[in-house]
Amino acid sequence: MKALVLAGGSGTRLRPITHTSAKQLVPVANKPVLFYGLESIAAAGIREIGIVVGDTHAEIEAAVGDGAAFGLEVTYLRQAAPLGLAHAVLIARDYLGDDDFVMYLGDNFIVGGINAIVSSFGRERPDAQIMLTRVGDPRQFGVAELDADGRVTGLEEKPAQPKSDLALVGVYLFTPAIHEAVAELKPSWRGELEITDAIQWLIDEGRRVESTAITGYWKDTGNVADMLEVNRLVLESLEPRLLGTAEGSELIGRVVVEEGAVVEGSRVVGPAIIGPGARVRDSYVGPFTSIGADCVIEHSEIEYSIVLPRASIEGVGRIESSLIGHDVEVTPAPTTPRAHRLVLGDHSKVQISS
Ligand code: DAU
Repeated sequence: MKALVLAGGSGTRLRPITHTSAKQLVPVANKPVLFYGLESIAAAGIREIGIVVGDTHAEIEAAVGDGAAFGLEVTYLRQAAPLGLAHAVLIARDYLGDDDFVMYLGDNFIVGGINAIVSSFGRERPDAQIMLTRVGDPRQFGVAELDADGRVTGLEEKPAQPKSDLALVGVYLFTPAIHEAVAELKPSWRGELEITDAIQWLIDEGRRVESTAITGYWKDTGNVADMLEVNRLVLESLEPRLLGTAEGSELIGRVVVEEGAVVEGSRVVGPAIIGPGARVRDSYVGPFTSIGADCVIEHSEIEYSIVLPRASIEGVGRIESSLIGHDVEVTPAPTTPRAHRLVLGDHSKVQISS
């Protein structure tokens, strides 16, 4: 069995954080979301993995390398344009050969991994196996309709009027039957070759498509509240460790201080992670906070937030429920005139208490 991981896309979707970088590298508890997927694939006993990359290929390749760090053998498959999930399968045709494979969308996060579904697929070997989860707004997803016995009867991609609240999760298991389906596809209304349509084709042809319901699912939608929540969830299971230094400081609960990080005269209440090379001085870092590598936090308080690498927050009082991009500088304004001075990137969102 192989894995096909989709880490392409145009890199131009205008979201605050993924404006300039690959969405698969958005960090959850200081680790790119893509890495959790790669770890799950390795944990399921899969070694050979094809990663589909697009415009942001250099960034993805720099982060993942040859895959040895994950116990994987990575082959990069270049997709010239993001023409759809089924298009990614099309360009991976030679790589996949006649093997079964798990297709994993690189911006998806599945709590608890994929071991169970990979082994049940191996035992039962339906033509395709999908995972479903209940979501608040199914219009952003592929949506499944089930009959009274729980069999999938229909799938629709991003329907305006969803027939259920069961969304397709971005992990699919396929036999080579999927290649027959993909070969028959025409682009959808959004101009993409949809994997949802390919699976519908299998259903229409009377092939066996199984579904499994899961809980504990997140995908990058650019929604900050969701991101803070998944960060919280992952930090909850953190094993405390002190690899850096913490002088004149109090570390309470599940706190990770990574290699080269310096915590001085501060109070850190876990679960929280302070990334490698970060400096936290005379500050408070509260629960559910991830401070990225080489950040500087001085004379400030921060809680329930994500701070990406190399950002600095100095002398600004208290920050909560915030997502701060890499290399951002947050500093106090001069006292007179009392004015906010802002240099904000496109699509930034700021809430100021005055
Ligand atoms: O995340 C689950 C959803 O993923 C499913 O519910 C939908 O049925 C499925 O179509 C897909 O919808 P999205 O519109 O959210 O997919 P997105 O364009 O965000 O792409 C998912 C991942 O695949 C992302 O990491 C980028 C990558 N990708 C996407 C396209 C269109 C590629 O590598 N190549 C592509 O051509």
